[in-house]
Amino acid sequence: MPYMQSYTRVELTDFEGVSLVHFITDNWENIKNFKARPDDILIATHPKAGTTWVSYILDLLYFGNTSPERQTSLPIYLRVPFLEANFPETPSGEDLANKLATTPRIIKTHLPVQLVPKSFWEQNCRVVYVARNAKDSAVSYYHFDRMNMISAEPGDWNTYLQRFMDGKTMFGPWYNHVCGYWEKKQTYPNLHYIISFLLRKRITKGVHFDAMKQNKMTNYSAVPVMDFKISPFMRKGKVGDWKNHFTVAQNEQFDKHYKEKMKSTTLQFRTQI
Ligand code: A3P
Repeated sequence: MPYMQSYTRVELTDFEGVSLVHFITDNWENIKNFKARPDDILIATHPKAGTTWVSYILDLLYFGNTSPERQTSLPIYLRVPFLEANFPETPSGEDLANKLATTPRIIKTHLPVQLVPKSFWEQNCRVVYVARNAKDSAVSYYHFDRMNMISAEPGDWNTYLQRFMDGKTMFGPWYNHVCGYWEKKQTYPNLHYIISFLLRKRITKGVHFDAMKQNKMTNYSAVPVMDFKISPFMRKGKVGDWKNHFTVAQNEQFDKHYKEKMKSTTLQFRTQI
């Protein structure tokens, strides 16, 4: 694990109605004008939906036979660049994506659908959207923001849950994110929408949670801004961990709010699992 230097927590700023950090908005012109290629594959998620897992699987499917050494020598964020990333001590995601030598290029984003660079749609790129149920997403994001030293201060769980419900966590409301891509799918056939199914028994050994957790090339342990003493990136990898966090009152309040927020979409989640 790298030496943990101190970082200053940042405030989230409102960018076109979406909470972002200045690292991203500072580089916005380059992100917005990113030139996608027709064979690019974009993995899009609201944070903590299983992005790393899907990135790993797609990279393995496309390049596992031809370049098996990638799995043991290249960290996942170099194989699958994070488009809008522009964080201290690492090259920007759009720069890494521009320099990617693979075909196809597999690129990840957390941007809500309305902020995805237009070229992806114009080039009719394949887009894989992964959605995870709201409660597990909120819990996972809370632990991530506790240990990610360049995100906004998360506060305690109750404060964070309220912020998640208010849509004021980074990348904006979970509700708009999952519904926005769902609506897009109705008119854009190249968008493949997956409801996350973390920890399926059928998955093979290499993509099993424990294997990915131990693998330095997928567990983000080399990223200097993450403090694994607080919480690891590969935390539990379970469905239903929200039950260990939500109080009965929080759960009731969340369900009521959820129903209201999701009342006009045809998208269905099994929120009680
Ligand atoms: P938890 O915090 O609930 O454990 P992302 O990659 O989008 O940031 O998502 C991270 C979440 O996916 C974390 O959830 C992490 O543990 C889980 N995860 C990553 N790889 C996994 C795998 N192979 N199997 C199950 N869960 C996995």
